[in-house]
Amino acid sequence: MQNQVTIIEHPLIQHKLTLMRKAETSTTKFRNLLKEISLLLAYEVTRDLPLKSEQIKTPLAPMNAPVLAPDKKLVLVSIMRAGQGILDGMLELIPSARVGHIGLYRDPKTLIPVEYYFKVPHDVEQRDMIVVDPMLATGNSAIAAVERLKSTNPLSIRFVCLLAAPEGIKHFCETHSDVPIYAAAIDDYLDEHGYIIPGLGDAGDRLFGTK
Ligand code: URA
Repeated sequence: MQNQVTIIEHPLIQHKLTLMRKAETSTTKFRNLLKEISLLLAYEVTRDLPLKSEQIKTPLAPMNAPVLAPDKKLVLVSIMRAGQGILDGMLELIPSARVGHIGLYRDPKTLIPVEYYFKVPHDVEQRDMIVVDPMLATGNSAIAAVERLKSTNPLSIRFVCLLAAPEGIKHFCETHSDVPIYAAAIDDYLDEHGYIIPGLGDAGDRLFGTK
């Protein structure tokens, strides 16, 4: 299967992304912008969720009204720590979603991602899953995270980021060809330190003010 890569070109997303990219944007503004964009991303990513009919009564008449079909709520999984920024925005739109976290660090010698935290709902095999991380750079963390999450057997997995590098997309698609990717933009290339160029810098540092 060939990955679906969807670039969400909504003007509000593109405008807000430009504000996030600016070096002079403050931590507070960066955080709020990421939250706002993520809410819009969540709207697009959930566009094809199936609906079913439910019999309800309005104050005036009974009707068959559409509601989301899956019995179990979506699960949003944040790749720590920058994934938290997207998670917060998505939860504004989908407050009943369940939440998982996965933490990975890169072993400085082998450069292989090592898991240091993992928690997802116990019944994840009955849920659709959206995995979030703002930057798809080398793809190593996203690939390792999705691999681990696949072992829990969710109904489906979608991957959502803000910015992607062409190298990261290629690498991810080679490994997880069955997982659709959603991004606000694909930038030019990765530099020798693994940063997306032109990008927006270190998303975690900008989000948490740690630089
Ligand atoms: N992670 C970031 O936060 N920024 C990049 O440019 C690449 C990876």
